[in-house]
Amino acid sequence: MDNDINSEIMDKITKVCICKAISRAAIKKAIQDGAKTLLEVQQVTGAGSGPCGGRRCTLKILELLEIEGSRQQP
Ligand code: FES
Repeated sequence: MDNDINSEIMDKITKVCICKAISRAAIKKAIQDGAKTLLEVQQVTGAGSGPCGGRRCTLKILELLEIEGSRQQP
């Protein structure tokens, strides 16, 4: 229980896309709401559209897609 709360807090304060201040929680929610590809996550959240052009966040988003996507498999 404490671990769930701690990981939720960490997800909210950890920025995946630093340029646009998009949190890990926002990326996870986009995936949980149905985004299945990098482009879909970027379109929903705005991640990747900052000055670095996604160089700093693309890999992190792909990792979350893999982790969260595999959790949603029946
Ligand atoms: S960190 Fe995401 S666009 Fe720069």
